[in-house]
Amino acid sequence: MKVLVPPIKSQGIKTKLVDWISTNVETIEFDRWVEPFLGTGVVAFNVKHKKALLCDSNPHLIAFYKALQSKEITSYLVREFLTVEGEKLLKSNGDYYYEVRNRFNSERNPLDFLFLSRSCFNGMMRFNRKGGFNVPFCRKPQRFAKALVTKITNQVENIAQKISIGDYTFKNQDFMETMKELKSKDLVYSDPPYIGRHVDYFDSWSEEDELNLNCGLINSKAKFILSTWLSNKYRTNEYVFSVWKECFISTKEHFYHLGANEKNRNAIYEALLSNIELKDSISNSEMKQRIELNKSRLTTPVKFAEPAQLILPFEQQQASGPSPK
Ligand SMILES: C[S@@+](CC[C@H](N)C(=O)[O-])C[C@H]1O[C@@H](n2cnc3c(N)ncnc32)[C@H](O)[C@@H]1O
Repeated sequence: MKVLVPPIKSQGIKTKLVDWISTNVETIEFDRWVEPFLGTGVVAFNVKHKKALLCDSNPHLIAFYKALQSKEITSYLVREFLTVEGEKLLKSNGDYYYEVRNRFNSERNPLDFLFLSRSCFNGMMRFNRKGGFNVPFCRKPQRFAKALVTKITNQVENIAQKISIGDYTFKNQDFMETMKELKSKDLVYSDPPYIGRHVDYFDSWSEEDELNLNCGLINSKAKFILSTWLSNKYRTNEYVFSVWKECFISTKEHFYHLGANEKNRNAIYEALLSNIELKDSISNSEMKQRIELNKSRLTTPVKFAEPAQLILPFEQQQASGPSPK
C-alpha cells in the first residue's frame, strides 16, 4: 500500500502502522469514520471511508487542516512561503527559526506551524504550559532546500485533494466532546496519548482519561478500534487486561529509535484493541494466557524472526523499565 504522507510531523505518527490498520478496517461496515485523536491525520487520510469526523484538542493541527479545506492554504502558497522563509533561515545560519517560533506563538499562523513542524528537532510536537511551541531547531540551516520544499508541497497538494473530494469535518475539541457525538453506525479509531509519557499542554493523559474513553466508547454502541502498546522488553501494558479486558486484540511488532544511534533500536508490540473481531485478532483472555505461558504475543504473521528483544520471560518483563514512546 502506498501511504499518503501528511505534511505535518509528530512523535506519535502512525505512518508505519497504517497498512496494518487499513487491512483490518477493509471488511468492516460503517457509515462514518471518527477520530477523537487525529494527530497528523495519517490514518484518516489513508483508510477508506465515505465520511469522517476528525478531532483533536490541539488547535494548531485542526486549524492547519481547516485552512487546507477552505483553500486559505494551497500547495502554491506553501511553496512560495517555504522558499522565502527557508532562504531567511539559511542566511541567519538557523537563528531565524526562533523568530518564526516567537511569531507563531503570538500569531498562530498555520504556515508558520508547518515551517516549525518541518524544521524543529526530530519533527517533534511539544507545547509548554502556556500553549507555546517549544521544540528547538533541528540545527540544519539549509533545511528548506529545493528538494524538501518540493516534497512538502506535494504532500500538501495530495492531502488538500483528498480533503476536497471527501466529506471531512474537522473539530478542535476534547475527546469527551467527540464521545457525545458518536452514533452506533460510526467506526471510531482512537489513538490517545500513551499513559506515562511526559506531560504536554495539548497532549497529556491520565488513568481517569483512559477510563472515561473506555466508558464513552462502550456507551456509544459504535464499533471502535483503539491503538495502544502491549509490551516492550521491560513492561506489559496492564490496562489492556483491566480497562480493555472485553476487547479483542491484534498485535504487530514495531521498532522505534531512541535518538539518532542505530543501536538504540527498541522493539515493541503494538496492539489494536477492538469491540469487534478483526482479521487477525484473538480474545483478551487468550492473549493473557499466551503471555503467562510465554507463548508468542504476535497475532499477525511474522515477517522476520520474532524480535529477540521481546521474547523474555514474563517475570522479567514485569520489572520496571521505561514505558514506550
Ligand atoms: C498519539 S497522537 C495521535 C497520532 C495520530 N494517530 C497520527 O498518526 O498522527 C495523540 C493525539 O491526541 C491529541 N490529544 C491529547 N489529549 C487529547 C484530548 N484530551 N482530547 C482530544 N485530543 C487529545 C494530541 O493532541 C495528539 O494529537
